[in-house]
Amino acid sequence: MTNSNKPTIIQHPIVARDLTILRESTTKTADFRVAMARIATILAYYALKDLPLREIEVDTPITRTTGYQIDQKIVIVPILRAGLSLVDAIIDFVPDAKVGHLGMYRDETTHQPVDYYSNMPEDLDKALVLLVDPMLATGGSADDAIDFLQNSGAENIRFISLISAPEGLERISNKYPDVPIITAAVDEKLNDNAFIVPGLGDAGDRYFGTH
Ligand code: PRP
Repeated sequence: MTNSNKPTIIQHPIVARDLTILRESTTKTADFRVAMARIATILAYYALKDLPLREIEVDTPITRTTGYQIDQKIVIVPILRAGLSLVDAIIDFVPDAKVGHLGMYRDETTHQPVDYYSNMPEDLDKALVLLVDPMLATGGSADDAIDFLQNSGAENIRFISLISAPEGLERISNKYPDVPIITAAVDEKLNDNAFIVPGLGDAGDRYFGTH
């Protein structure tokens, strides 16, 4: 993945169709989860597409040949709660990935992130750290999360979001030029409540059925 300020915006017909399902306010929890899972798989595919490999020798039933293993420790860090919706798709590709949890919610009045929990695996410095949160709005949560991960030793971080606002993208790409951003959509703007427009509402509430 090239290190640049420019986000990777995933263009794919399945993503376009599933984003529409997620945006539609009448979509039921079950359909919302299924669409989220499919998009998460595509985001994970792109986020992992340049993983380093090491060669190994394997014996097929016919002969000996060269094969490959993933030569990279991976840590997935969901920003709770909504980030949990993107974890399983990555684990499907890399079942030995470790998961560090970062609990944060956005204060509804100030729109500032409030930290309430963290539990990280060791050796963050040796891992590719995939920070996941479906919504990048003001960028306050992602900013705090990346700052926390870097202070915890992480040197190789990628941020994966589903829908990004231009404000959040600008904040993260300017402050962290070495953190590639992978997203499925860049929406128009934030409204007065710092919700993404058009967006999909509150991803955590819709995914967990708490709204
Ligand atoms: C949402 C979202 C991000 C954050 C984005 O979380 O999942 O974590 O807000 O906003 P920001 O870019 O302006 O910081 P929320 O506070 O709704 O918590 P939840 O995941 O528990 O629903």
